[in-house]
Amino acid sequence: MSTSPSKILRIGVVGIGNMGSSHVTTINDGKVTRCQVTAVADGDAERTGRFPKAKAFKTGKELVESGEVDAVIIATPHFDHTTLGTAALAAGLHVLVEKPLSVHKADCERLIAAYHARPKKEQIFGAMFNQRTDPHYAKVRELIVNGELGEVRRVNWIVTDWFRTEAYYGSSGWRATWKGEGGGVLVNQCPHNLDLIQWMFGMPTSVRAFCQFGKWHDIETEDAVTAYLEFPNGATGVFITSTGETPGTNRLEIAAERGRIVIQNGKVQWTRNTVAMTEFSKTTDSSFGRPDVWNIDIPIDGSGGQHIAILQNFVDAVLDGVPLIAPAVEGMNSVEIANACIYSSLTNATVQFPLDGAKYEQALQKLIAESKFVKKVAKRTASADDFAKSHQK
Ligand SMILES: NC(=O)c1ccc[n+]([C@@H]2O[C@H](COP(=O)([O-])OP(=O)(O)OC[C@H]3O[C@@H](n4cnc5c(N)ncnc54)[C@H](O)[C@@H]3O)[C@@H](O)[C@H]2O)c1
Repeated sequence: MSTSPSKILRIGVVGIGNMGSSHVTTINDGKVTRCQVTAVADGDAERTGRFPKAKAFKTGKELVESGEVDAVIIATPHFDHTTLGTAALAAGLHVLVEKPLSVHKADCERLIAAYHARPKKEQIFGAMFNQRTDPHYAKVRELIVNGELGEVRRVNWIVTDWFRTEAYYGSSGWRATWKGEGGGVLVNQCPHNLDLIQWMFGMPTSVRAFCQFGKWHDIETEDAVTAYLEFPNGATGVFITSTGETPGTNRLEIAAERGRIVIQNGKVQWTRNTVAMTEFSKTTDSSFGRPDVWNIDIPIDGSGGQHIAILQNFVDAVLDGVPLIAPAVEGMNSVEIANACIYSSLTNATVQFPLDGAKYEQALQKLIAESKFVKKVAKRTASADDFAKSHQK
């Protein structure tokens, strides 16, 4: 693998809202090496005007066709990830798409098909799953992948610290509507958690979920979810999330052959069974005995490089061929779990994986067609500081 210190990747950012602006600023501030933002696109000229050094376009399509960029970052509302991503890939550009990959599985499949049909083999297709860079999760994944933790039996993730206010939902017309966003907490905040679930534990075999739609906010999509998952080895999982709870909790508990791991409050604590539990259960003479445990605080420093690390990794993948931290094709998994949770609620039934993407798309189209919800968009009052806080997690 050779490095290309002299090459500068020309990046176009499409969608100059909260996240797109943040990506442009990060790159303009020199936090990502060997790239520059040469073009930006957004229908709102005031937004593109904030970055006068970049050529401004009104639409992503114009930017893609402009010849001004080698790569695009797509930071638009979710439905456009598919259309813009497809156009950019067909134009031979490298693509980094914000989470979620698309709103629903069938759109993910269309976008991934565009990647497989790309004109240049070397095109890079990444996704912004910045939480994969968080060492808390990366360390636990490593313990699972290298077998140290043993087979996982149970996973419980309560992630209810995604609190959002009415002002947040009122800040953009597309948010938390079936037509504009295609879902609520599962497609906006939780793609990170659902991606980490499939990254650490693999895809589940089934889910039974209870989504509550507009329970805590004046929205039509889900803002509270409890899901029961089953995995191929018989392990079970419970995933609980909400944007309507504060202070909320973020606690991931994993029960495995070699003990229990809890990730909470910035700590990874492993209560390690000195003998694997199945072996202990089958070999001990004692009725009520338990294996001895070691209490291990796994040292973790910080929360990783997050967005900057994913941006740098994308540039390095293009220029040097380094592997992607989050290949976009893997982004379909979190979308599929999110869709399956909503579908399970809508149908009042357990959903088996793989989800039927066409059926889910139909169900979503029905929700869109039958929606009577009138979205109230408030004059934006949130500060830039607010938005910086929104994606620290
Ligand atoms: N990775 C993270 O931590 C993180 C955090 C927040 C948001 N996001 C993601 O970033 C994306 C954008 O979210 P946001 O909060 O910035 O939304 P936003 O509403 O603040 O901004 C979206 C922008 O896209 C523009 N836009 C819409 N359609 C467009 C099109 N076809 N072409 C060009 N511009 C278009 C809008 O005018 C707006 O300026 C979403 O996918 C969201 O899930 C990711």
